[in-house]
Amino acid sequence: MNTHIPIPEGLKEILQGFTTEVLRNQPRDICDFALQYFAEQKNLRKEKGQLLKSTQEAMQIDSEDEEEFVVSAEKYDPDNETEGNREPLVIHPKTDEQRERLQEACKDNILFRSLQPEDFSMVLDAMFERLVGAGEQIIEQHEDGDNFYVIESGIYDVKVTDNGVTRLIATYDNHGSFGELALMYNTPRATTITARTLGALWSLDRATFRRIIVKNNAKKRSAYDEFIQTVPLLSSLETYERMKVVDVLSMQQFTDGEQIIAEGETAHSFYIVESGEVRISVKRSEPDCEVEEVELATCTRGQYFGELALVTNKPRAASAYAVGDVKCLVMGVSAFERLLGPCMEIMKRNISNYQAQMASCREVVDQL
Ligand code: CMP
Repeated sequence: MNTHIPIPEGLKEILQGFTTEVLRNQPRDICDFALQYFAEQKNLRKEKGQLLKSTQEAMQIDSEDEEEFVVSAEKYDPDNETEGNREPLVIHPKTDEQRERLQEACKDNILFRSLQPEDFSMVLDAMFERLVGAGEQIIEQHEDGDNFYVIESGIYDVKVTDNGVTRLIATYDNHGSFGELALMYNTPRATTITARTLGALWSLDRATFRRIIVKNNAKKRSAYDEFIQTVPLLSSLETYERMKVVDVLSMQQFTDGEQIIAEGETAHSFYIVESGEVRISVKRSEPDCEVEEVELATCTRGQYFGELALVTNKPRAASAYAVGDVKCLVMGVSAFERLLGPCMEIMKRNISNYQAQMASCREVVDQL
């Protein structure tokens, strides 16, 4: 009997992917492995779907002019949010002293850096201060996102609970920001964040965040996606992973001789050279000699630097200077940890080359 059994679309690809992973990982219990594998695939699909949706929404916002944006965002309105309604922009009045502190806390924030001055000013107007006590929970995993937070002071623990087990995955120490993911991608909170000490935060409401930051991200995607695709380090990332990288990048410009990274300092950022040349050098001091800097390497378009301290959790091992005018794409430490895990092997391989560079630098010093 010749019965025709239809093969569901996608079955072949799913089974092929699973088989490859089984052969690669050689699990002891294939059933357990299958459970874990398919649960991860499902999450990944959900994430891709959400990202695609938020990209389309953001692109829609971006394609309209400012007046139109209000109207098109009204159409979007998935959770009945107020974003884009013809509501006036939120303004929380501040004293001069508060505004100064707010500006100081936000000045290096990567999500804000690529904003036009008028957008940045609207963000500052909308932010409001929140003082927190030791032990206070700011964000709860799986909840909906209400605000984005910039840290002015305090220590904050980031924890994830998975299968009933809670792990501390990161700590913010008087620096940085959090709570952007749920607002950018319309996802539940990814972690729980609790203040370990007394602290002060600046909060930005969801609607203003989406109205200004998400719209700006759409612009960044069209501006940088082409370049990002040519960066060798990121070539192993999927398209949607690269988009997430672009969302958290900001562009910084440096003039000839300007110091980008200082040896010995605490590291907060990772850099990809968009144009120009960056010189990496270390201080060397020999007995009876003045401290002097010796060049280790140069980085040009598409190359990266500033990852070593983030990977090793140590102070900066070398300094970086602009040679001529330089443009870099900059990523903060927590986005680096969250998004560049898949590129870690390549980075570690390159880090092992640094020892060779250091050794040849020592030879140069010996010859001086
Ligand atoms: P959101 O998901 O809105 O709320 C929890 C926040 O924790 C998240 O945004 C990030 O800002 C922050 N966070 C810090 N480290 C991580 C991490 N490794 N994975 C996910 N979120 C993280």
